[in-house]
Parts: sequence; structure tokens; C-alpha cells
Amino acid sequence: MKVAVLGAAGGIGQALSLLLKTQLPAGSELSLYDVAPVVPGVAVDLSHIPTDVAVKGFGKDALADALSGCDVVLIPAGVPRKPGMDRSDLFNINAGIVKNLIEACADNCPNACIGVITNPVNTTVAIAAETLKAKGVYDKNKLFGVTTLDVIRSETFVAELKGKSTSDVHVPVIGGHSGTTILPLLSQVEGVSFTDDEIASLTKRIQNAGTEVVEAKAGGGSATLSMGQAAARFCLSLVKALQGESVTEYTYVQVDGSDDAAFFAHPVRLGKNGVEEILPYGTLSAFEENAKNEMLEGLRGDIKLGVEFVNG
Ligand SMILES: NC(=O)c1ccc[n+]([C@@H]2O[C@H](COP(=O)([O-])OP(=O)(O)OC[C@H]3O[C@@H](n4cnc5c(N)ncnc54)[C@H](O)[C@@H]3O)[C@@H](O)[C@H]2O)c1
Repeated sequence: MKVAVLGAAGGIGQALSLLLKTQLPAGSELSLYDVAPVVPGVAVDLSHIPTDVAVKGFGKDALADALSGCDVVLIPAGVPRKPGMDRSDLFNINAGIVKNLIEACADNCPNACIGVITNPVNTTVAIAAETLKAKGVYDKNKLFGVTTLDVIRSETFVAELKGKSTSDVHVPVIGGHSGTTILPLLSQVEGVSFTDDEIASLTKRIQNAGTEVVEAKAGGGSATLSMGQAAARFCLSLVKALQGESVTEYTYVQVDGSDDAAFFAHPVRLGKNGVEEILPYGTLSAFEENAKNEMLEGLRGDIKLGVEFVNG
């Protein structure tokens, strides 16, 4: 497997690259690309770790070489939030970055699975889809918005609240990746029950967890280490799936014929061709149904913004 990380010198990129260097299957190749001049050094640094994963760094003029032959591309390139910013405030800078990187993916690894991490994910995934369509290489089964951080945060917070081991807690999270579009399905968590107050406060905490980190970092950026872990989990699942195992992850994908939105985080069965099946998210509680109905218009607007960015 050849995996590329675009934005590999950043906070997420470095944490993610470290985890992939130590956890990708033996024989894999890791391709690190960034416009920051430190990226060859990040690759040399990682290359001293004794695993059977080859690491190469690629500077700003070597994007084509970084992408050539890739099976999986992960994109955390772009600017993160500062206190007071919403994810949508990042649109002006990050939209163009994602569009350019996706064009290069279309030209150099048109069959790769692409995981978009750059915010605002609700919109950047739509930008990626439209860009790939314009290049004639869009495969909706191979484009993902990485929302795994919402899942791991939910699992951590529920385990903490209920005194459980995190390994015994599984929390479905559907919708998008911003504010109220993040919809944890606490009614479906097996083996625990919540009061109405707990559901309201936990849902809010999960939706605002990114802001918790942004404020605690006080201008130093947003989640990088937990996001590195989340993206590594997603990537390792995808790699397993591409190698023939059947794996389920929650991820933001194109959903045809849905009453929700054109893109929506669902449980997805991954396999050799990327998305093998978009699974239903099951029955929602009245609280969740209401929360979903209230956020759908905003999510659809985020998606429309991405479509219009590419198509004018
Ligand atoms: N999906 C999620 O759950 C999630 C969670 C946290 C952060 N994020 C997003 O991930 C992105 C990165 O966050 P970070 O904390 O790593 O930021 P960072 O500033 O630490 O790193 C970003 C990196 O991208 C690089 N970069 C910028 N333009 C580039 C280009 N055109 N090509 C290649 N590399 C480029 C920069 O040089 C930098 O090294 C942000 O948009 C942030 O909002 C997403």
C-alpha cells in the first residue's frame, strides 16, 4: 500500500505520519508532502524508526511524485482554527488548497481513495467531489470526509461519564463535521442509559469538543494529536479493507437518494473498492430526530457552497 499525507509537516500531518509509520502493514510506503520546507526533515526523522514502512518526503515542487501510484491519500493541508473562529471561517483559504491538491490527485493517482481532513469538511468534501467530476475521474466510493474524531471523542466522553472502559463503548456519529451537524446517536450506545439532561449536555460537549481544544490551545491551533489518532484509525481501516477485509467505519460520504443531504456521515462498509455499502443509521430517538431536522438546512448550505466554489 502506498499512502500519501498532504500537509504532512503540520500538527495533524506529523502525528498522523508517526502513527502510520509505526502501524501500516510491513512493505507499505508513506509519502509525505507539504509546502513547508521542513517536510524532508520530517521524513528523515521518521525514517529512523525501525519499521518496514518506507518513508519519503516531497517538497512543494514534487506533488506529482508524492502522489504517483498512491492507493490512499489523506489531506490535512490548510489552516486550523484560532479562538473565536468557526470551521466555516477557514473556507476562504482552505477551499483553494483542497481544490489544487485534489486536481493533482486526479492527475497522478485517479484511482486512489481520498480522505479529506481539512476543514470545513462539510464543504471541502463537496469541493473535492466537484473537482474530481470536472477532471472526469470521480468515484463516490473513494471519497471520504474524515469524521472519525467525532466518534473517538464520543467514545471517550461516554466512557468517562459512565465509568466504562473505552474499548467497550461504541458511539455512532452521523451528519456532518461542524457544530450541530455533528449528531452522536447516544440512544444507540449499547450497555448504558442516559438521563435526558445527560443526553443534552453530552451531545453539546461532543459538538463543541473541537472548540474545547481550540480554546485550551489559546491561539496555537486546533486538535492535532487526537486528530492524528482518528485519521490513523480511519486510514488503517481503509488499508485493511483495500486488502480484502470487510471493515465498518463512520465517515462522511456521498449518499444517493437520501432525504438528509447529498453528503452525510453514515456507517459505511469498506472493502476492496472503497465504499462497498452505505449502511442505514437505524432508528433515531425523538431528541436525535429533532436535532437532525434542525441541522439539515445548514449542512445542505455547506455542501452547496462547495459545489458553487468549483462550478461558479
Ligand atoms: N476533520 C477533522 O476532524 C479535523 C480536526 C482537526 C483539524 N482539522 C483541520 O485540519 C487542517 C490542518 O490542521 P493542523 O492543525 O494540522 O494545521 P497546521 O497549520 O499545523 O498544518 C497544516 C499544514 O498544511 C500545510 N499546507 C498549507 N498549504 C498547503 C498546500 N497547498 N499543500 C500542502 N500542504 C499545505 C502547511 O504548511 C502545514 O504544514 C485544518 O484545516 C484543520 O481545521 C480537521
